Amino acid sequence: MKKILGKIADRIYHKPRLKISSAVSPLLIPRMVNILKKRSAALADLDSVLDFALKFKIYGTPIKPLQIRGEFKRLMEIVQAARPKAIVELGTAMGGTLFCFARVADPSATLISLDLPSGQGGYLEWKKPLLEAFALPE
Ligand SMILES: C[S@@+](CC[C@H](N)C(=O)[O-])C[C@H]1O[C@@H](n2cnc3c(N)ncnc32)[C@H](O)[C@@H]1O
Repeated sequence: MKKILGKIADRIYHKPRLKISSAVSPLLIPRMVNILKKRSAALADLDSVLDFALKFKIYGTPIKPLQIRGEFKRLMEIVQAARPKAIVELGTAMGGTLFCFARVADPSATLISLDLPSGQGGYLEWKKPLLEAFALPE
């Protein structure tokens, strides 16, 4: 049943003239989480991680970091070398930087990302499971 619903959702979504309304997106979140986990499971190096974060988009929902790639890569190299056990990010936005932090920090690191309430700049509540899915299994 889940598979059939997923296929129907895919078909509707990929019809160029039909746009899924933001009211439907929360219903697709379990599928978004699965797809994100599957596609990001085997990112071998930092460039693959950055490319994934910059290009990944599921049902109209990107995770794109709002950063300049060269500067951003340097930051991630520094974090990768330091392998911190805790990171606090101020300003989650679409989650792209959080995704990359999750891939370069120590797998057991605690990651905290804060943003303003939705509507004042932060993200919509239904996106939370997608952001939580960035965490690697310890
Ligand atoms: C440039 S975006 C962050 C981009 C994100 N770190 C990335 O690279 O994808 C800035 C974010 O900071 C958030 N922000 C602004 N003021 C804030 C505050 N006082 N506390 C928490 N988040 C804040 C905004 O809502 C916005 O999502």
